[in-house]
Amino acid sequence: MFTKQYWTGSLRKTAILKVEEIRKEFAGWVSPGYDYRLRILRHIFNKKDIEGQYVLDIGAGCGETSGSFMVHFGASGATAVDSYEGHGSDVSTYEQIKTLQSILGNKLKIIKQDIWNFFTEDKYGFIVAISSLHHIAESKKTLRQDLKLEQKIVELFKRIGGMLKDDGKFVFFDLARRNYSPIPRYRERYKTVVDLSTKQDPWAWMSALRKAGFRKVRLRYPAPVVLDRFKFIHWLFNNYLMCILTNSGYLIEASNFKKEYNKLYQEAE
Ligand SMILES: C[S@@+](CC[C@H](N)C(=O)[O-])C[C@H]1O[C@@H](n2cnc3c(N)ncnc32)[C@H](O)[C@@H]1O
Repeated sequence: MFTKQYWTGSLRKTAILKVEEIRKEFAGWVSPGYDYRLRILRHIFNKKDIEGQYVLDIGAGCGETSGSFMVHFGASGATAVDSYEGHGSDVSTYEQIKTLQSILGNKLKIIKQDIWNFFTEDKYGFIVAISSLHHIAESKKTLRQDLKLEQKIVELFKRIGGMLKDDGKFVFFDLARRNYSPIPRYRERYKTVVDLSTKQDPWAWMSALRKAGFRKVRLRYPAPVVLDRFKFIHWLFNNYLMCILTNSGYLIEASNFKKEYNKLYQEAE
């Protein structure tokens, strides 16, 4: 149920919002090209993982993912954590998510904070980070070359693992360190807009996730979204070579976090 609080004189009242109205307002709020973005979200995420879950969106930006998960994937609510201090967001991003909150009401919580300083006792069924980890741990070095950074990431992943419900999943989308795509759209993007040399290849994160205590770590290279209808050829794209020959994107799912490991870690702190 979506609700909104408002004041009449000195009385605080709660209004119940109609889902259809929310959908309509959300459709008016999204940025141009949102239909394509929703197609991508549907292409890379599994609705079953998100439906009915409370989501933590790390590096949430303007909140389009949090909003989509609530409006189109049936998430029961979302907490958007973002520092909103550059590193992938511009000044208007915070205003945008505040406007989104006025549409979604109580279901969207915004926490303006650096993830490195974010601590909570809350538990989430689904934790997501889309294109934000490479900003959070930006480095020209690989994690294997920079062991100090790797250790910091392991500690962060332990903290994230501790925020998951027992059957919860931490899923993130990120970019590989290189791109050799013959497709002009990608080649241009990675030459002029996005600097891939500050990203990490998937195995760097996977190793850190295992060290942090995630027992199940799964890597997927989604096929380009234009092929979303041709499921029978997706396996052809599910490898590193095809990844760097197309959009350089990959998805990592981590679950089955060793809670006892986390407890020991908290006690030691
Ligand atoms: C490329 S944007 C991605 C935004 C959103 N996830 C999306 O897919 O549209 C990266 C986001 O990560 C956030 N970010 C970067 N470093 C962060 C940090 N240390 N803590 C929290 N958020 C951070 C930025 O403010 C930015 O909004």
